[in-house]
Amino acid sequence: MKRTTLTRFLIEQQRNENVLPAELRLLIETVARACKTISHAIGRGALGEVLGSLDSENVQGEVQKKLDVIANEFILDANEWGGHLAAMASEEMETIYPTPNRYPKGEYLMLFDPIDGSSNIDVDLSVGTIFSVLKASDAVAGRDVTEEDFLQDGRNQVAAGYAIYGPQTLLVLTVGTGVYEFTLDKEVGAWLMTDANMTMPQGKCEFAINMSNRRQWSPGITRYIDERVQGAAGPCGKDYNMRWTASMVADVHRILKRGGVFMYPADNRSENKAKLRLMYEANPMAFLIEQAGGAATNGFIPIMDVEPVGLHQRVGVVLGDKAEVATITEYGKLN
Ligand code: AHG
Ligand code: MN
Ligand code: MN
Repeated sequence: MKRTTLTRFLIEQQRNENVLPAELRLLIETVARACKTISHAIGRGALGEVLGSLDSENVQGEVQKKLDVIANEFILDANEWGGHLAAMASEEMETIYPTPNRYPKGEYLMLFDPIDGSSNIDVDLSVGTIFSVLKASDAVAGRDVTEEDFLQDGRNQVAAGYAIYGPQTLLVLTVGTGVYEFTLDKEVGAWLMTDANMTMPQGKCEFAINMSNRRQWSPGITRYIDERVQGAAGPCGKDYNMRWTASMVADVHRILKRGGVFMYPADNRSENKAKLRLMYEANPMAFLIEQAGGAATNGFIPIMDVEPVGLHQRVGVVLGDKAEVATITEYGKLN
């Protein structure tokens, strides 16, 4: 079977749909190339001496894995010289990384989570890379980029996607014209389209949540889960299944392919009561899920309408099946 390559897909989006400026195409190709390198490093595992933790912590106070730092470097190195970016920001860096002066400065801003699901690296479970692309405001052309330039709401994203390093390495992407999946042909080194115009199935009875946080949930989330756990005998009248991989990328990918709902709700543990980060986890996933016909909220309003106030801001996340997300939102309002 002759498959469309990522390169061809992007060129056709640029040519036919007129949605993809050349610089953005270059940016996506560069990210995809960096993800190939990350996939290779992950695949080598202990043989490549990339497993395990470092002594360092990132800005969120989390212990950094070797691969968090390696993947962060891969993405910075691949993208800093191409002339398509004004600056980058990542989970692993306290503040922004402006394009060095020795390289031309582009008009885009990229935020990324170099390795999502780090706790799974050392036990050979799926991890991923998440990215979100924004346009820098015109003002940036004549001055230095600042953190504030990144604080745009999710609706401003011009591209978003993730790579998942699982049994296969996949790239799932949107530029606002639907969701497309590419599988890495590791022998040839090419990304080949394996799913197009992805639409997430609705009405599937599967939820993903870390149940160990139950005591910290809001009454709305507790009610939603308790009703589902009661199965066919409970108020839903249906048996539900539960899955939790502890890699948002893997959970979201499953939901895109076979439906269900994913939750990492705000709770009482941390100061701002949530775990996942708005700018490089929640927003890009919300863009993909909405493009695939699902919904993504913080439990109350669409994630992409949440006003960002900080690069590393955390946010509650409820995404996937439209009707289930609506039910959770409704239960939340009754609190
Ligand atoms: P990261 O590895 O980038 O810090 O993200 C991990 C996130 C997310 O991928 C996952 O859904 C969640 O943390 C898992 O959290 P728990 O360990 O609390 O289940
Ligand atoms: Mn993450
Ligand atoms: Mn991470």
